[in-house]
Amino acid sequence: MGKQLNILLLGSGGREHAFAWKIAQSKHLQNLYIAPGNAGTARCGTNVAMADTDFETIKNFVWTNAIDMVIVGAEAPLTLGIHDYFLADDLLKTVPIIGPKQDGALLEGSKDFSKKFMLRHGIPTAAYASFTQSTLAQGIDFLTSLTPPYVLKADGLAAGKGVIITEDLTEAKAELTEMLTNAKFGAASAKVVIEEFLSGIECSVFVLTDGKSYKVLPIAKDYKRIGKGDTGLNTGGMGAVSPVPFANEAFMQKLETKVIQPTINGLIKDNIDYRGFVFIGIMNVGGEPYVIEYNCRMGDPETEVVLPRINNDILDLFDAVATQTLNTQTLEIDPRTAITTMCVSGGYPEEYVKDKLIKNLGTLPKEILAFHAGTRFDENENVLTNGGRVLAITALHTSPNQARKLSQEAAQHIDYAGKYYRTDIGLDIL
Ligand code: AMP
Ligand code: GLY
Repeated sequence: MGKQLNILLLGSGGREHAFAWKIAQSKHLQNLYIAPGNAGTARCGTNVAMADTDFETIKNFVWTNAIDMVIVGAEAPLTLGIHDYFLADDLLKTVPIIGPKQDGALLEGSKDFSKKFMLRHGIPTAAYASFTQSTLAQGIDFLTSLTPPYVLKADGLAAGKGVIITEDLTEAKAELTEMLTNAKFGAASAKVVIEEFLSGIECSVFVLTDGKSYKVLPIAKDYKRIGKGDTGLNTGGMGAVSPVPFANEAFMQKLETKVIQPTINGLIKDNIDYRGFVFIGIMNVGGEPYVIEYNCRMGDPETEVVLPRINNDILDLFDAVATQTLNTQTLEIDPRTAITTMCVSGGYPEEYVKDKLIKNLGTLPKEILAFHAGTRFDENENVLTNGGRVLAITALHTSPNQARKLSQEAAQHIDYAGKYYRTDIGLDIL
């Protein structure tokens, strides 16, 4: 790479702080802008008050600030077509976007599309059928023919709430009716996928692709429920670990041949020019990988354990994605275990309090990576809570148990009113 790059990173969560932290270490970086960012990303570059879905404002910013590359954190700008928007503009079309176009983002944007994709390319996944309002009666009959638990998924994006799993047939039928006839999840549930329940242990697989070749990034496991022992309501993610001990060499081999290669080859066969991250949610069912879902972006909080384990200059990797030369890159992976514990606001994932002063950030051990998820500065540069998920506290260590202990101690050390975190992140698999 000849020149120093001006980078625009879109997003404001812990994932984006981890990206900003990693990009800030690049020898190819000139200026890093994060839009809208948070109090943590402000330490890695310049925050810009601009929504990640406001394409017109982003376009003007990219043009005015001679941005060389745009990295998209979340799914919304991708499913809304930010990449296509750039390609359609004479001034912007030469600025690479890390993230797929709308056709590739459909892997996340439509469950029905992604199930058909998996079927077409022989990728293992739960058996399914999809229904609309006009086929509600068939949907009810289909449910009756299944054995519980029943899995219902709104077709479109529903802020992580569109999946319902229930043992109760009456409830399943009522939910299906609510989704299809009463638009329970708005337009996202105009179509509903009903699928076979898969019993096993989940993990998150991340692949970076330039549309021709790919790299498999470190594997991770996310802890989705609010309560200890995976109980209570679903959240955006309460912590993560990488690597995942059960993903041994034999499992990784199966993942690669049965899931990853057919996915990348499937995109090529379907003429989907995909440049960015593919996040594959996997269920390990008795040693066999099944795809639960695709996302068109990195995971959060998985990014907060995956990026700290990649030693490469991340702009080398992104440039290789943009120039379709990823095959010339070699990933350098840190063998240590990374564990992140998410500190959240009181009340989360339901209604929660914000604007609480965060204390003790400055006195964390220096090897701790405190990635900001929902924070902001007040007028005196104090850091305040500004979201349900507040801080992802990552520790790395050769001993997984020690990584766990360091992450937990640092989460304990952080102080703000209403702080909550899970004390069992990683315990089940270490
Ligand atoms: P999704 O939004 O598709 O990732 O689904 C959310 C969560 O529901 C997943 O992380 C799984 O824990 C669970 N889930 C989804 N599909 C299934 C399935 N077919 N069998 C069992 N659990 C599932
Ligand atoms: N941690 C799950 C997600 O990012 O969707």
